Amino acid sequence: MPEALVFGPCEDNLTDRRFYRVADGHGLPHDPFKAIVGPRPIGWISSRSLAGVANLAPFSFFNALSSNPPIIGFSSDGWKDTVQNISETREFGWNLATASLARAMNESSATVPPEVDEFDLAGLRPTEGLVTKAPLVAEAPVSFECKLSEIVRVKDHQGAASPNWLVIGEVVGVHIDPAFLVDGLYDTAAAAPILRGGGPGDYFNVGPDQKFVMFRPKTPA
Ligand SMILES: Cc1cc2nc3c(=O)[nH]c(=O)nc-3n(C[C@H](O)[C@H](O)[C@H](O)COP(=O)(O)O)c2cc1C
Repeated sequence: MPEALVFGPCEDNLTDRRFYRVADGHGLPHDPFKAIVGPRPIGWISSRSLAGVANLAPFSFFNALSSNPPIIGFSSDGWKDTVQNISETREFGWNLATASLARAMNESSATVPPEVDEFDLAGLRPTEGLVTKAPLVAEAPVSFECKLSEIVRVKDHQGAASPNWLVIGEVVGVHIDPAFLVDGLYDTAAAAPILRGGGPGDYFNVGPDQKFVMFRPKTPA
């Protein structure tokens, strides 16, 4: 255990768990919060600046937030180029990061000025959206076209503003490689999505071995 550990016993007589107040810090080499809430799907977000420069960046503080309407959201630690573009154009793309695209996804996270096109940087081809002007990753088996719903400043429980921004958008168009549709059902595992979790630099794969089937309980008559 690291020396700076500020964990204490929970003293709940039921568990042997340790506890830390977030305000005091965890004292661990890597924030356990990021490893516990995981693996997280990756929001591989494509956008275009008003000047027309394509932008691509991964955000793992990302998820689907609602199914009808289909809404996705991601948070940006600071007002990054992605957020600036989306705030101006009010549209963006989401692209599925898969095992074969892992290296390109990582390269697209480089911190570069807004005039640098991360599609070029990562050796990817941008394709055009059909209902938005956002570029999409042609190599990705799935892309969403999204329209901005809102950009929300992340606040703490006392209402104090943080430097982070939550970008929420409605999925208005879906592109799927038909190779991943089996009898009309989208095969999540076959697309081999990658997810973020664990320690620094750790990722997880999803494949058929991770799948199990369980139906919801029947509503009592
Ligand atoms: C797998 C992965 C996940 C990331 N998740 C986030 C995230 O959730 N929030 C964030 O602000 N940055 C995240 N980053 C860093 C951004 O991708 C990086 O800052 C990028 O340069 C932002 O691009 P932009 O300035 O063009 O918007 C992540 C990077 C990687 C490789």
